[in-house]
Amino acid sequence: MKTIEAAAKAAPSDLEFIPLSVPEIRGNEWQYVKECLDTGWVSSVGSYVERFEKMVALQAGTQYAVATVSGTSALHVSLLVAGVQPGDEVLVSTLTFIAPVNAVRYVGAFPVFMDAEPDHWQINPAKIAAFLETECDRTNGVLRNRHTGRRVSAIVPVHILGHPVDMDPILEIARNYGLMVVEDSTEALGSAYHGKSPGSFGDIGCFSFNGNKIITTGGGGMIVTNREDWAKKAKYLTTQAKDDPIEYVHGEVGFNYRMTNVLAAIGCAQMEQLSKCVAKKREIARRYDEELAGVQGLELMKQAAGAESTYWMYTVLINPDAFGMNSRELLRALDLEKIQTRPLWQPIHLSPAYADQSRISLPVAEDLANRALSLPCSVGLSESDQDRVISAIVEAGS
Ligand SMILES: Cc1ncc(COP(=O)(O)O)c(C=O)c1O
Repeated sequence: MKTIEAAAKAAPSDLEFIPLSVPEIRGNEWQYVKECLDTGWVSSVGSYVERFEKMVALQAGTQYAVATVSGTSALHVSLLVAGVQPGDEVLVSTLTFIAPVNAVRYVGAFPVFMDAEPDHWQINPAKIAAFLETECDRTNGVLRNRHTGRRVSAIVPVHILGHPVDMDPILEIARNYGLMVVEDSTEALGSAYHGKSPGSFGDIGCFSFNGNKIITTGGGGMIVTNREDWAKKAKYLTTQAKDDPIEYVHGEVGFNYRMTNVLAAIGCAQMEQLSKCVAKKREIARRYDEELAGVQGLELMKQAAGAESTYWMYTVLINPDAFGMNSRELLRALDLEKIQTRPLWQPIHLSPAYADQSRISLPVAEDLANRALSLPCSVGLSESDQDRVISAIVEAGS
């Protein structure tokens, strides 16, 4: 094992920085954006918005798609459309970026954090079933948390890191308990679960086109659903709930959440390259898998049976005793080599922002968050940069 101090002395200063993940803008983006600027169709009305919606619906395998300004706003509106009420409880992954949990609070509901499963790091359906069975009662047809008395109304499974959640048991649980399923598939565009896209399994799903996603519009999101009335409601709410566009009559409190044509133009160009981006991510993952397989103390990402991961964010687990340093020490060692890596998120049940929620122990998520490190995996990552990452990890652990 090399110490961090020794690594600092040895690190050459002229190395190029390898970022964790940067966008790949190499298609028709300039041309489509120029067209928007030349024609003046820059705002949220324009042909690219509808075209982008159609492209994402086709990819997701849903009948409808509604473009939004972000994945977070897509989640917010999806929860409203799904009928989640203030004071409800929503079961949500704790091992996730914080946005879906915040969206639960935006609608006045409360998150109930669910643990991850240890093999593929997704929300654990068995723990959802156990919670509903042991902690909830149905009274007068309403499912309530026995301890808080609150109605439990929805599940938000978050497909993390480009790998799908095991949806079959979750859908069965939702059917049995009468719960809505709002999928956070923001990290899983291009992946598949038994041949179908995340986002298409539940009642409604959400994507994000934030800068670090597999394709990007700089910032943006999409709601997908097969329910026509929900799609209409989502579009209504995301466009200020306008009942009469001339007289400015508004039937509800709406939001200014619709994506602009300029960003949708970037999205269309990016969607044209989605399959190339997915192939490249998988190729990078295959190479990391091959080259890191023998490194003591590293656990590599696994793909579940029936799942086709995009490996959107290639992540490894470090076992400190066997590897010789922990995940944060490895992060610092790689940083000295100008290689950017990142731990997973602090599980949200530990987040100070949610300190007032009940802090139950969710041991698998906590363990994964302690040991995980995401490696550089930009679509444009060259083989020589992959080699640098691989060598630096091998060196750090030897
Ligand atoms: C799991 C997850 N949910 C929601 C979001 C929110 O998307 P956005 O940044 O587009 O609001 C992100 C990423 O940014 C995410 O990774």
